[in-house]
Amino acid sequence: MTRPRRGRKHLIALVGLPARGKTFTARKLAGYLAWLGYPTRVFNVGERRRETLGPGQHHEFFDPANRDATAQRQRLADAVLDDALRWLRGDARVAIYDATNSTRERRDGIRARAAAEDRDLLFVEIVNHDPVVIEANLRETKLSSPDYAGVDEASALTDFRARIAHYESAYKTLRDDEGAWLRIVDRGRQVEIHEVWGWIPGRIVSFLTNLQVTRRPVWLTRHGESLWNAVGRIGGDPELSPRGREFAENLACFVRRHFGRDSDLDVWTSTLRRTIETAAPLGIEPGQWKALDEIHAGVCDGMTYREIAATLPAEFEARRRDKFSYRYPRGESYQDVVQRVDRVIIELERYRTPVLVIAHRAVLRALRAYFQQLPPAETPFLPMPLHTLLQLTPSAYGCEEVRVEFEPRVEESPDRG
Ligand code: F6P
Repeated sequence: MTRPRRGRKHLIALVGLPARGKTFTARKLAGYLAWLGYPTRVFNVGERRRETLGPGQHHEFFDPANRDATAQRQRLADAVLDDALRWLRGDARVAIYDATNSTRERRDGIRARAAAEDRDLLFVEIVNHDPVVIEANLRETKLSSPDYAGVDEASALTDFRARIAHYESAYKTLRDDEGAWLRIVDRGRQVEIHEVWGWIPGRIVSFLTNLQVTRRPVWLTRHGESLWNAVGRIGGDPELSPRGREFAENLACFVRRHFGRDSDLDVWTSTLRRTIETAAPLGIEPGQWKALDEIHAGVCDGMTYREIAATLPAEFEARRRDKFSYRYPRGESYQDVVQRVDRVIIELERYRTPVLVIAHRAVLRALRAYFQQLPPAETPFLPMPLHTLLQLTPSAYGCEEVRVEFEPRVEESPDRG
């Protein structure tokens, strides 16, 4: 094992047959780690192959008995690994190497390269035995891949199955003498962890063992207008204004229509009155999370932005310069909020049933930034108006957003004083 030092850099290498969800996993993991504040990127060998050789390689190209093609594939894999290791020499913390890496030789080579550069290597193997899941994955991702553009569905499926069979003929699962690894079998039904230590690897284990591939939406809304929103004061624990209560009723009507009375919808709120009051007309006992409480404005709690600008101009200016990292004296920053809602993200990823989150502006911006994979600098400025419901549906290639606006519409003071 490498010396436990702060700031170590991690090379995560995926392992597994084609159509097991490696690319989806790599992208979700990269988004999660980058959101937590660790610069992370995915390095994908399939994309490099298509860029270099053009799309549409026939299955024979993947036959291990085909020596020329095997050498070509090795060169491509090496070039992408070079890029990943080069990226780690800069300010980056994590590189995710997305390839099949399904033979011992391939993995021994990766281990030697990672050791030579003193990087912490973690293999993440994705195993799936369920033919229904494999078939669904194949249809959802591979048939739309540029490799099969213009090819009819039946021929594409036959070719891709032959490609998988070539990989199966040479595939060797990870063994105990291969260092740190995580194996996820049948979408988390079984998880094996081998020699995994440390904070970032620990976050990776927690995230990947909870990650679901089921496509389902998450619903986010702020509480109804509070008595303090109405006068531009931040923070505190005020009650809803009459307009806020009207929104809560309208939201409940919408939810009943949309989900039906006996749905398995879960409702989560913060521990603050304005979110709990917003949930009340829904008639569903909400789960209350302290982690969903609004950003703590410390000494500025209860002030208007104008008052902060007038009485604490240096603080106001510091926040204007770097709103993401700025921490209110005796309060929190957006960065702190991201760390605290991490646990909410893990729970949301674990759920297979719909969840409606009723929370606050800054906290919801942090959740939205995770699902939409937006950079930290944009997070504190994401539009999150009152009396508006966001439906976010993450998929392998992005996150679909639908907005539902409710009456009464309300204007809010911006944070510019
Ligand atoms: O004004 C409502 C509010 O939720 C405050 O309690 C909180 O301090 C603020 O929004 C967060 O938004 P911003 O980071 O833009 O000030």
